[in-house]
Amino acid sequence: MEKLQAWAIWKYNDVDSILTHPNFSAHYIDHRNLDSKLILDQQLAEFRASFIKLLQENHPFIKGVISKVISQEIGIFTKSKKTDIYTAFLRPCCQNISLQLTGIPEYKAEQQNLFGKTRAVFNMTNESETETNLGNNAVMSLSKYFQQLCKERRKQPGNDLITTFTKVEKNVGLLVSPLIQLFVGICESVPLLVGNMLYSLHENPHVIDRLISDVSSHSNELIRYAGPAQYVIRYCVADCKFNGHNFRKGDRIAVFLWSANRDEDIFRSPDTLDLNRTAQANMSFGKGNHACLGASIVREISIHMMEAILSHLPMDQISWAEAEFTGSKTIRGMNKINFNA
Ligand code: HEM
Repeated sequence: MEKLQAWAIWKYNDVDSILTHPNFSAHYIDHRNLDSKLILDQQLAEFRASFIKLLQENHPFIKGVISKVISQEIGIFTKSKKTDIYTAFLRPCCQNISLQLTGIPEYKAEQQNLFGKTRAVFNMTNESETETNLGNNAVMSLSKYFQQLCKERRKQPGNDLITTFTKVEKNVGLLVSPLIQLFVGICESVPLLVGNMLYSLHENPHVIDRLISDVSSHSNELIRYAGPAQYVIRYCVADCKFNGHNFRKGDRIAVFLWSANRDEDIFRSPDTLDLNRTAQANMSFGKGNHACLGASIVREISIHMMEAILSHLPMDQISWAEAEFTGSKTIRGMNKINFNA
């Protein structure tokens, strides 16, 4: 029997094709159980569509929470004389937004710990066995927590997204994964994205004045340049020849999103933050059947946060020499950004 292969795919057009072609699945393939996987895919596709619709319908509520929390938190940060923008503004702000969106009273340290551990499972990163076991246990604990929460909200509705989701989706099991991703996405990934956006201004100081007057029109380019997601994994479900590559059923493929975003055949001078770039879809939120369901929320939060930072904190007061990046394989970002208060 021929050995299965592992691939690293990094050109924009190859990334685009693999993420949108049915021969490549985001789920590890259990060859004995392909039919049940297809049923699951169908359920997920339906659920994705209703999730996106719900977010659109609840946009005024979501936008209201985001702008209220950010204006409170930037005020607290500027008065606090604390120096690390990441720990004293970006993270608490994002935690507060996710709590208020979901109507959860507090973000407990033990939950924060569990969210961090789920990465080994959600990102399918081939972490060590211990990390994967810890990740699976964390997902189980969080699943129980969110299932319980959904049941409670059904009995006692509130003014929050969990109540809204449970009214529309009867299958509580289907709600759990997006809810965990909402927390992990807002609390863990958004602060990294905004930290990267700030760093991109350090690398491209010529754009600062233009951004101070208008962040929103340039959010695509900021997200292309600063997107924290490094790669996603796909499995080939049927032998195929694709863009000159011979894939075999079961092959594992690392699809490099950040590298597609820096493909010079698609983005001229890709390492420059170019606010005049014409709209070309970037890969920071993936593409196809599994593209990020939280992209609209992330865009909203990051634009508001950048506006708040640019109007309250002079960029030349950040000490970039002391800044630090996190070392995760799948998601990369600034996690220490010192401001000279
Ligand atoms: C900076 C923040 C975020 C980034 C960079 C990000 C990026 C991504 C990427 C690249 C994927 C594609 C995964 C794949 O193709 O295998 C994804 C999937 C997903 N994201 Fe996000 N995400 C972020 C925040 C969020 C938030 C806030 C939410 C929830 C509201 C969310 C919900 C999801 C869900 C549910 C999926 C899985 C979709 C599926 O498999 O059908 N994400 N995200």
